[in-house]
Amino acid sequence: MPDDKIQLKIMKESEFDPNNTQEKKSGWPKQAFHVSHLREEDFKTDGFRGWALSRDLGMAKATGGMVEAHVNRRARPFDPDAVSKRHFHDTQFQLVYVLRGWMRAEFEGQEHTMRPGSCWIQPPRIKHTVLGFSDDLELLEVIIPAQYDTVNMDEQSGIKPDPRR
Ligand SMILES: [Fe+2]
Repeated sequence: MPDDKIQLKIMKESEFDPNNTQEKKSGWPKQAFHVSHLREEDFKTDGFRGWALSRDLGMAKATGGMVEAHVNRRARPFDPDAVSKRHFHDTQFQLVYVLRGWMRAEFEGQEHTMRPGSCWIQPPRIKHTVLGFSDDLELLEVIIPAQYDTVNMDEQSGIKPDPRR
C-alpha cells in the first residue's frame, strides 16, 4: 500500500466480515486490553544496560509476545565508553519517540539530533551508535517482536561521540 493512499473506511456492522479480520489475516496472537499508568517506581534498570532506566508498559504480555513497549530514561550522564558501541537490533519493527530531552545518534552514517517530538523507525538490523544524550532524556520505544537480540558490531562507525547538543 503506497503511504499516501491510506484510506480509513467506516461501515455498518452488517457489512463487516468477522472471518476476515486484520487479526486473522496477520496471524498475530490474541490481544488483551491493557493499560499502564505512570508510577515513578516502575522505572528500573534493565540489568544489561546500567545507564538506562526503563518503564515496561506491559504490552508484551497483553499481545502474546508480539509487541514490546517501554519508556526509557537515563540513569547516568552520557559516557561514550559505556554507551557508544555500534550495534543493531534483530527486530521486525522499532519505533522511537522523544518525550523529553535530546539525543544524538548515527544511523548507518547519517547523524541526527532527536528532540522532543522527534519520531523515527529503525528498520531491522540498521547499524547505529548513540553519540550523546541529555540527562533528562525520555523516550518511548515500540518494538516487534517483544523478544529480540542486540548485536554489537566488531567495527565502530568512526564518528566521534559528541556530548553536546
Ligand atoms: Fe540501539
